[in-house]
Amino acid sequence: MATDNDVEGVAALRASMVRELRDQGAIQSELVAAAFTAVPRHLFTPGEPLKVAYATDNAPIVKRDDNGLTLSSVSAPHLQATMLEAAEIKPGMRVCEVGSGGYNAALLAELVGDGGHVTTVDIDPDIVERARTLLNEAGYHHVNVLQADAEEGVPNAAPFDRIIVTAGSWDIPPAWIDQLAHDGRIVVPLRLKGTTRWIAFDRDSEGGLVSRSYGLCVFVPFQGSGSHTERNVTIDNGVVLRLDDENLKEDAEALRRALHLPRIERWSGAAFDMPDELMLFLLTNDPNMAMLHADQEAIDHGLLARPPLKGVPALISGDSFAYRAARPNDDMGSGYESGVYAHGPSAEDLAARYVELLRQWADKYHRRGAASIQYIPKPATPPAPSSGVITKRHGTVVVTWP
Ligand SMILES: C[S@@+](CC[C@H](N)C(=O)[O-])C[C@H]1O[C@@H](n2cnc3c(N)ncnc32)[C@H](O)[C@@H]1O
Repeated sequence: MATDNDVEGVAALRASMVRELRDQGAIQSELVAAAFTAVPRHLFTPGEPLKVAYATDNAPIVKRDDNGLTLSSVSAPHLQATMLEAAEIKPGMRVCEVGSGGYNAALLAELVGDGGHVTTVDIDPDIVERARTLLNEAGYHHVNVLQADAEEGVPNAAPFDRIIVTAGSWDIPPAWIDQLAHDGRIVVPLRLKGTTRWIAFDRDSEGGLVSRSYGLCVFVPFQGSGSHTERNVTIDNGVVLRLDDENLKEDAEALRRALHLPRIERWSGAAFDMPDELMLFLLTNDPNMAMLHADQEAIDHGLLARPPLKGVPALISGDSFAYRAARPNDDMGSGYESGVYAHGPSAEDLAARYVELLRQWADKYHRRGAASIQYIPKPATPPAPSSGVITKRHGTVVVTWP
């Protein structure tokens, strides 16, 4: 087994990580492959076993708050590679990274090369100190490491060809758009309706942003003046609705009663796969969708079936709710059929509406990247309210399904 001082062993681990990331489709370009090959990731994860440092899906935790919530981590290589590919960083670019772990900044430094410039900014002085020390030790002295609330961006180092945000942001602060070069790109994990998607945004012709690509992800929360907490409504022990829409009214007590009524199940006859893409479609095609979460105990007690364990879109009415299900079905390409479980007096109506959405997605949008996501900053007039229009503090997100 390789040790930290075993140069060849560590290089072999790194090469195997790069191979795996290529196989997974996370690394697609030679430039990104070269960056991952060059930067010794283990130098940015001191104290972690080498195998853990080089695991493609592992994000070692750097800091937690008093309640155990993760405040900072070194992101997983799979996600870093995916976002760097989406950013299409070229030699010579000026890049700003929001959220510092050191490793991703070193990858960025490799990508922009000697002619480029990397600024990384973190709100937490401990994280800044750590990133600065590790970057220096690894030889990346030229990365500019700053402590600030990135809600205001980094005006002194702007404009940026790329802004890469590595914390889950609920909104896009005006400073990021102002500090972006004319043909720049922002890659940001944006929180939408209780879920987070990294979105690669380019400028559109009207002063806003339009998505080029996106994908589901999980990130530590954005802190400081731009922080935001979704409403968590407890329905029963271990059963929570995460609401990100002030207009969506819920009656927790009526939903609790519904939960204890026998559930109905209805099946769509449509294939179930790509749950992340389907999730975005469901959340943005009915105003009464929210994320339903249940813990293992609630599932073991039979209160809910398995899908809410990782969170699932639920259609809510005053006293009833419905959520997505899947069952094995060899007639479907994916081997699974989508369906719905519904509870409460209006279970039948909700199930019918849900099944219709499942069929619509399977008929028309059953592919990756089918949605177009636009960000319209204030003061531009937002479009009329509809299920794909999500109001934020500084602007509006509009998700359409062309
Ligand atoms: C996932 S970590 C960053 C990982 C890092 N990019 C890496 O190399 O993998 C997210 C970081 O965002 C920082 N952060 C959260 N809110 C911030 C804010 N408002 N301004 C700047 N940094 C912030 C946190 O302190 C945390 O260290």
